[in-house]
Amino acid sequence: MKTLKFLTTVILASIFIYACGSKEQSSNESETDKQTSEKKEVPESIKMGKGVGEFTEVEVSDPLNEEWVARGEAIYDMKCSACHKLTDQKVVGPGFQGVTNRRKPEWIMNMITNVDVMLAEDPTAQKLLEECMTRMPNQNIKPDDARKILEFFRKNDMEKVGKKDEAIKS
Ligand code: HEC
Repeated sequence: MKTLKFLTTVILASIFIYACGSKEQSSNESETDKQTSEKKEVPESIKMGKGVGEFTEVEVSDPLNEEWVARGEAIYDMKCSACHKLTDQKVVGPGFQGVTNRRKPEWIMNMITNVDVMLAEDPTAQKLLEECMTRMPNQNIKPDDARKILEFFRKNDMEKVGKKDEAIKS
């Protein structure tokens, strides 16, 4: 009985110490985060309108790769259509019409694969967040699939607007 009491005390004490320890650690972390973000310069990729993430150079070409378009459309139907229409109508997120004319391919693909960092660092993404008032959730899209979604957006823009990829020129 005594041992049991002792054991319970030890367990309780260690939970208490652990809880305090982790709290302290996390407040230290946020302190260093604050310091680094104050010093951080705006990354070149953001200045170039490419956002932040693994995509720094994306090649687009003609004619469209119809296989990619089909795969992109299937992913859109499954994972994006609840929040995004293919017209200019906003639902939860902006309509995709004209998206390749207003955003560079790298920006689009970084937004799809790296949304949390984009919302934390990219001013264009942050402006959308202000307008939509909902955070786009991470959809766990693989890099290859992001390229296929982009191809589908290019096709959609040809159909809806008659031009695509205009943002690359700016
Ligand atoms: C739960 C709703 C939701 C889902 C699902 C969703 N998004 Fe979004 N998306 C948003 C919101 C909201 C924004 C605006 C930014 C913000 O507020 O986070 C956005 C913004 C975007 C943008 C920028 C649009 C522009 O006009 O610049 C792209 C591109 C995008 N999403 C792609 C996708 C793709 C691709 C999928 C599916 C794989 C997807 N989203 C799934 C809510 C969603």
